[in-house]
Amino acid sequence: MNRGVIIACDFATKTECFQFLEQFRGLKPFLKIGMELFYNEGPSILEEVKKTGSRIFLDLKLHDIPNTIKKTTKNIAELGVDMLTLHASGGSEMMLAAKEGLETANSSTLLIAVTILTSLSAATIRQELLIHSGLNSVVLHYSQNAKKCKMDGIVCSPFEIQKIKQNCGSDFIVVAPGIRVEDNVNDHARMSTPDFAKHAGSDFIVVGRPITTALDPVAAYNHISNEFGGVKT
Ligand code: C5P
Repeated sequence: MNRGVIIACDFATKTECFQFLEQFRGLKPFLKIGMELFYNEGPSILEEVKKTGSRIFLDLKLHDIPNTIKKTTKNIAELGVDMLTLHASGGSEMMLAAKEGLETANSSTLLIAVTILTSLSAATIRQELLIHSGLNSVVLHYSQNAKKCKMDGIVCSPFEIQKIKQNCGSDFIVVAPGIRVEDNVNDHARMSTPDFAKHAGSDFIVVGRPITTALDPVAAYNHISNEFGGVKT
């Protein structure tokens, strides 16, 4: 797995998504399909997007009891996506079950565990979720659990990457969302620039609105890709 920019295709419909992708004809960027599009259009959207030649990161952030997750990942294996997310907070048994489901289907889909959403601030995690260990140690601990459960990598904020790579190894994939090119934070409590994410050691950055709402999305993608470095597919 190389490194690069993943575009979050957070669109409500297939029509909107393909209007957007039309501009990227020939570039074949790595694409993230999330809940919004998947639940509206169903699995067929993946087949259609795959025809463009892009790799697909299916971001469904699975979180359920192990038995259900195992059956679910076995079904998802048939969709032939490159990466799939689940929540590390679902626990070790759930992560192992997810892996087992994929292995049963001989799938090469990479499993990526979400640690703590970048939309959550340290104060929210402490006061609302009653997690008192401190954001950094929770993210590190969840990453170590994910590594033990044979996950291929994790999603976290660029601020947490260095410790994770030191503890989980350089080949443990780190995907970082919450990327902004200017002072436009939207709903991320912990955001950073592509350059920061690169120097922090991120393998992939996930970028949505800075590309999808740009006046020239291809120029925005190229600009962010150049700043982050890596392969543009
Ligand atoms: O538009 P924006 O760049 O903020 O989009 C970020 C994308 O990254 C969204 O699709 C969101 O679902 C995803 N995300 C994630 N994990 C997080 C935070 C955001 O996968 N911790």
